[in-house]
Amino acid sequence: MSFSLPQDISPTALIAILLTPTPNSPQPPSISLPSLISINSNKRTCLFHRTYYIESNQPWKPKPDMNSPKDWPEPIVRVQSLSDSGVPVVPDRYIKPPPERPLISSDNSDINIPLIDLGGFFGDEYLRATTLTQISEACREWGFFQVVNHGVRPELMDGAREVWRQFFHLPFESKQVYANAPKTYEGYGSRLGVQKGAILDWSDYYFLHYLPCSLKDHHKWPALPVSLREVIEEYSEQVVKLCGVLMKVLSLNLGLREEYLQNAFGGTNIGACLRVNFYPKCPQPDLTLGLSSHSDPGGMTLLLPDQRVAGLQVRRGNNWITVKPARHAFIVNIGDQIQVLSNAIYKSVEHRVIVNSNKERVSLAFFYNPRSDLPIEPAKELVTPDKPALYPAMTFDEYRLFIRLKGPQGKSQVESLKSPR
Ligand code: OGA
Ligand code: NI
Repeated sequence: MSFSLPQDISPTALIAILLTPTPNSPQPPSISLPSLISINSNKRTCLFHRTYYIESNQPWKPKPDMNSPKDWPEPIVRVQSLSDSGVPVVPDRYIKPPPERPLISSDNSDINIPLIDLGGFFGDEYLRATTLTQISEACREWGFFQVVNHGVRPELMDGAREVWRQFFHLPFESKQVYANAPKTYEGYGSRLGVQKGAILDWSDYYFLHYLPCSLKDHHKWPALPVSLREVIEEYSEQVVKLCGVLMKVLSLNLGLREEYLQNAFGGTNIGACLRVNFYPKCPQPDLTLGLSSHSDPGGMTLLLPDQRVAGLQVRRGNNWITVKPARHAFIVNIGDQIQVLSNAIYKSVEHRVIVNSNKERVSLAFFYNPRSDLPIEPAKELVTPDKPALYPAMTFDEYRLFIRLKGPQGKSQVESLKSPR
């Protein structure tokens, strides 16, 4: 079955058509339509296509598998090998168009994202209220903050970073056995997105699952250095605990029950994964980026930055602010799923990474995500006649297909989800 739709059909009407079961259909009819994302896009541009099935008596169901490419569109080049080979110039594939290029100047500005002492949350009533207010302001104004006194042992933070640095310095063959594919992205990778001919970022990475337990597979984590699995287990356990505390803080600050966000994420069945970024030295850092501008698609991110070199930049209006990491702090940022749940009271803010001509950089981005098959939508308590729901419900499985196909693209995904009004 196929049908064409008038150009000016309202998104609500279109969703109503999609949700209407086809009566007495002998077989589930299939229709090819732009994804829900583009259906809701006010620009009505098609971000990516997929096939939806409408089955009798059931709401529509996307089949994510049909959209997962099996392999990369081009041979993978390790950025670290390029860098180690001593190329004097950045190859064309990594040269960004001029408007995206960074301004590499010595950043003397005093501006930094807020720094918060989380110890205050466990202090007396006054300290607790002050800390909540600081975090509330940071979430509304920046979407980013750093935390200290967060409960994760400093030695564990340093140990986790160093064990990954050592991994990236292993011989090529020891890493290559973990080479990843775009179906799950798990393993050792050098690109995000599968668009042939895309301009790439100046970084390699390692991606692994920690939660749910059903997805955690130690065999997909590096076997070397020998302590890696143990260190990363302990690190992840402590970071998950910290995320649990932050979820409570964010819920309270939104005027919700303390457990609200955690429950909306699936209670104990949440998702958690780690992307370790390796940004090799770059001969022309002013022409490329270590990681292009993006917002994190998940719930919340805890970034362990390199202590030796800055690189993360956060968008503030039309400016990019370089984060100056505080010692043993985590950089916390709001992801798209919390933007949706908070009905945009909190925004997932764009960020990117610049690279360096004489220093490599290692960072650990820990993503705390909703259980991937739960519909995520604005909290009912935050939807009022004045502030109607800005986003339709969507599962994280559905949502993250975009970044997996297209790579980092600023905030175009969550923005296009917005119902036009
Ligand atoms: C990320 C990210 C920043 C950094 O991995 O999503 O934004 O500093 N990383 O590596
Ligand atoms: Ni990010």
